[in-house]
Amino acid sequence: MSALLEIHDLKTYIRQRKGEVRAVDGVSLYIEEGETLGLVGESGCGKTMTGMSIMRLLPPGGYIAGGSIVLDGKELVGMPERDLRKVRGNDVAVIFQDPMTSLNPTMTIGKQIAEMVRIHRQVKQEEALDRAAEVLSLVGMPNPKERLKDYPHQLSGGLRQRVMIAMALSCDPKLLIADEPTTALDVTIQLQILELLYSLKQRLKMAVLLITHDMGVIAGRADRVNVMYAGKIVEAAPTVELFESMHHPYTEALLASIPRLDQRADTRLYSIPGLPPDLSHPPTWCRFQPRCRYATARCREEEPELTGETPEHLYACFNPVGRAGARPQPAVAQ
Ligand SMILES: Nc1ncnc2c1ncn2[C@@H]1O[C@H](COP(=O)(O)OP(=O)(O)OP(=O)(O)O)[C@@H](O)[C@H]1O
Ligand SMILES: [Mg+2]
Repeated sequence: MSALLEIHDLKTYIRQRKGEVRAVDGVSLYIEEGETLGLVGESGCGKTMTGMSIMRLLPPGGYIAGGSIVLDGKELVGMPERDLRKVRGNDVAVIFQDPMTSLNPTMTIGKQIAEMVRIHRQVKQEEALDRAAEVLSLVGMPNPKERLKDYPHQLSGGLRQRVMIAMALSCDPKLLIADEPTTALDVTIQLQILELLYSLKQRLKMAVLLITHDMGVIAGRADRVNVMYAGKIVEAAPTVELFESMHHPYTEALLASIPRLDQRADTRLYSIPGLPPDLSHPPTWCRFQPRCRYATARCREEEPELTGETPEHLYACFNPVGRAGARPQPAVAQ
């Protein structure tokens, strides 16, 4: 059986005045029906561009330069905009970090959700409002019927994010893309929203692409994880396996930067030294090499491919962590 979403060798570039940024540079990934895939990596590594390529909502100058995106058996790359509009919201929906930028401040939340419902379903306004109340109750909004008349500014950040999720769910998408859905919220509300997403996924049997820079968000919530670095997937594994025996030094470093509950409040979090490469001139050798404590001469000459002993656990590294031969190397002056 084929997966719900299959992305193969996706290249999404952004044309700029001088040259172009290779925001997504040959990404392959899949998501099974009802599965949550975590997509993790530092800022600027191409996570949002990967998600937005599925929706084909790219910034000015952005275009898909190659590859394929098959959702539920349909090829999305090259699909006419008119057909794609039916896919957006119906088959796949997205929630962003900051709900205020996506909600219309001058319209009640009931009207906004109802509008979304009516774009995709031939129903009367009354029915659409009923559906709005229904999805609001699904996302745990207290007194959903009364809340239909509220404007976004009357709600707290956490409730606004619930409205965004309700909008996304209003047409029963098969795939929900959640792009840093909780980054703008404080910690307790973050946990509530993550728990909500998890329970919705279980109840609605929906697949989720959970995009985050925080490995802590992934733990216990994603079935599998793809780690992204500088426009490429560098490691892919089931979540438990990744946390227990990661092979890519970048994954190791990301995991070391999760705050721990038993950590003293005044200890500084580990952050990965150095910066990712410039994606308008990506190197032809390992992209993580200048920041890698295991790097050897080969890493400065060739780019490692994404492979592994089993198809479930792939990594792109010549000196994988936990394998014979991978030893921290003396720092090399850059
Ligand atoms: N509107 C834009 N114009 C030009 N370049 C862009 C634009 N948006 C993103 N990029 C570039 O594309 C690359 C990938 O960006 P993307 O937004 O996908 O990263 P991200 O992993 O989602 O990061 P973050 O964690 O900060 O959201 C980055 O190098 C970024 O500079
Ligand atoms: Mg992003």
